[in-house]
Amino acid sequence: MLYNSAMERLTIELARESDIPFMLELWQDTPGVGLGPGDDYTSVAAFLQRNPGSCLVLKNQDAVIGTVLGGFDGRRGYIYHLVIHEDYRRQGYGKKLLQEAVQRLKAINAGKIHLFVLKSNSEVEGFYEKQGWIKRQDIEVFSLDTAKI
Ligand SMILES: CC(C)(COP(=O)(O)OP(=O)(O)OC[C@H]1O[C@@H](n2cnc3c(N)ncnc32)[C@H](O)[C@@H]1OP(=O)(O)O)[C@@H](O)C(=O)NCCC(=O)NCCS
Repeated sequence: MLYNSAMERLTIELARESDIPFMLELWQDTPGVGLGPGDDYTSVAAFLQRNPGSCLVLKNQDAVIGTVLGGFDGRRGYIYHLVIHEDYRRQGYGKKLLQEAVQRLKAINAGKIHLFVLKSNSEVEGFYEKQGWIKRQDIEVFSLDTAKI
C-alpha cells in the first residue's frame, strides 16, 4: 500500500492482475478514455508485467475507483488511462495518482514522459496544464496498425 487516506479508506496500490477486470470496467464506463487494441485482459496483464512498478490503482476498500498506467520503453515514459471514477473527482486523487506514477517513472530514469489526450476530450487539458504538462504544438502522432500489414 503506497497511500492511505484513513478518513475515506482510500488506498493507492500497485495494480495487480486481479484488478484488471475492474480496471477495464472503469475505463469502459468513463467517457474520454480512448479504448482500443491493448485494452483487453491479456494485453493489460502484459503491460503490468512489463511495468510492474508504475501501474497504480486507487481503491475504496476493494473497489477500484482510479487507475493510471505508467510505461517505460527504455527511452521515454508514457502515461495511459489516468481515470478517477466520477464520484471521486475534484478531490485531489487524480493529481496524487499522476504524481505517484511520474515519480516512479522518474526513479527508473524516464527523463521525459508523454501522454495522449483525445481531441474530443479537450476538457481535460486544463488538468494536465495545472500539473505542469506542456501541450506540444510541434508533434503530430502517426500510428500503424500491424494487423493490416
Ligand atoms: C482527469 C481526471 C483524472 C482528474 O482527476 P481529479 O481527481 O478530478 O483531479 P484532481 O482533483 O486531482 O485535480 C487536480 C487539480 O486539477 C484541477 N482539475 C481537475 N479536473 C480539471 C479539468 N477538467 N480542467 C481543469 N482543471 C481541472 C482541479 O481543480 C485541481 O486544481 P487545484 O490543484 O488547484 O485544486 C478526471 O477528471 C477523470 O478521470 N477524467 C475522465 C478520464 C480522462 O479523461 N482521463 C484522461 C485521459 S487522457
